[in-house]
Amino acid sequence: MNKTFKFTLVAGASIAASVLSTFASADLYKAKCVACHQAGGAGLPNVFPPLAESEWVNGPAENLIKIQLRGLMGPITVKGKSYNSVMPPNAAMTDKEIASVLTYVRSNFGNKADPITPEMVKKHRGEVGKPMLTVKDLIDPEKAAAEAKKAAAKKGAAKKEAPKKEETKEKE
Ligand code: HEC
Repeated sequence: MNKTFKFTLVAGASIAASVLSTFASADLYKAKCVACHQAGGAGLPNVFPPLAESEWVNGPAENLIKIQLRGLMGPITVKGKSYNSVMPPNAAMTDKEIASVLTYVRSNFGNKADPITPEMVKKHRGEVGKPMLTVKDLIDPEKAAAEAKKAAAKKGAAKKEAPKKEETKEKE
């Protein structure tokens, strides 16, 4: 096969795959979350908390994975407002689906947090079947942010503004 042609095929396929996976994660959001968390992750006042700019969504990945695997109940404060309801678990979704929908939520609706991988979800599969979570089972996102800041300051003193490695996707 001609090299340029082969390259075009590979590049085309990987672009298509990434577009498809964006569609898939948006569809998962529509199928599994939108009924409660609403379009744009806005939530419903006093009933369903927002995902848009939520400190929980942008906080530790572990919290979000566990919420999907065990569900969440009882009082929780999101963006300064309190909620007290029940979110059923979504443990029937595969690791890949959970990773995909959580990554979608973390990179849309004004959120900016690292992706969640299927491997990360897999690590917490043992949570399935345990009692529903309450907020005391979760890592406090504000504390986690403060600790991350402290750690970054320590590191930053040594090497300031290390250039961020761009993720390069090279197939083959
Ligand atoms: C049946 C309604 C319902 C569905 C469906 C649902 N949630 Fe929730 N979710 C809730 C409720 C209610 C809470 C708050 C629970 C409480 O009061 O303890 C919550 C809390 C959360 C939280 C933590 C608080 C926040 O707003 O940041 C996250 C994150 C979350 N849900 C993500 C999701 C994702 C992602 C999906 C889809 C895969 C989903 N939820 C599906 C009702 C739902």
